Amino acid sequence: MAGTLAEGTAPPVRYGKLAQRVPDGDLNLPDLFPEEAGGGPLELDVGFGRGASLFSRAEAAPESRIIGIEIKSKWAFKVEERLRKYGLDRARAFAGDAREILHRSGPDGCLDVVFLHFPDPWWKRRHDKRRVLNDAFTDDIVRLLRPGGVFYVQTDVEDRGAMFRDLLRDHGAFDLEGEDGFVADNPYGARSNREIRAEEDGLPVFRIVARRR
Ligand SMILES: C[S@@+](CC[C@H](N)C(=O)[O-])C[C@H]1O[C@@H](n2cnc3c(N)ncnc32)[C@H](O)[C@@H]1O
Repeated sequence: MAGTLAEGTAPPVRYGKLAQRVPDGDLNLPDLFPEEAGGGPLELDVGFGRGASLFSRAEAAPESRIIGIEIKSKWAFKVEERLRKYGLDRARAFAGDAREILHRSGPDGCLDVVFLHFPDPWWKRRHDKRRVLNDAFTDDIVRLLRPGGVFYVQTDVEDRGAMFRDLLRDHGAFDLEGEDGFVADNPYGARSNREIRAEEDGLPVFRIVARRR
């Protein structure tokens, strides 16, 4: 990131009834919370969809500040509205493309945990452009995670799981927990909508805890 915003100068932008968006330009992620929110671990939930993971994580980890980024504006708006309604002021939902936003975000090493729940359900080659978890995105996550911080990725699509595991294992910046690079349970007590459905349907979930070296 080239340069940082002066502290407190760029509050999140709201456009009437539309979802809130992060400010343009270089983005200082901790500045997305007002100063009175205080400190605490900084977490990120990429592509939260209908938001179950954000709500449950905000309840399970009240000491954390949680930033959600969702490309579907309608969901970002609804989830932000509900977070405010329930007084979960240490979680914020923003609309936007996480790939673009994180590439211009800093400071390096500011994040403690990054959640990527059930990303990239497409498997056709022509959908490759849409994929969130690729090498460039992983480079940004590596830059933004503190040493010891965790990139938590889960999916119910077996070959996606193997692909994500291989990508993170071969990247070189992570140690993967568990046998074969998968862990049996979600260690965070924050279930996403897709995860709840997969478990109700008895589908296996492939979970990766990639710890930043
Ligand atoms: C399969 S859904 C999973 C939703 C939720 N995480 C869950 O587990 O229930 C993938 C989500 O990622 C969002 N998404 C896709 N590309 C994105 C991007 N570049 N930036 C932010 N969100 C994105 C989609 O809009 C969708 O809500």
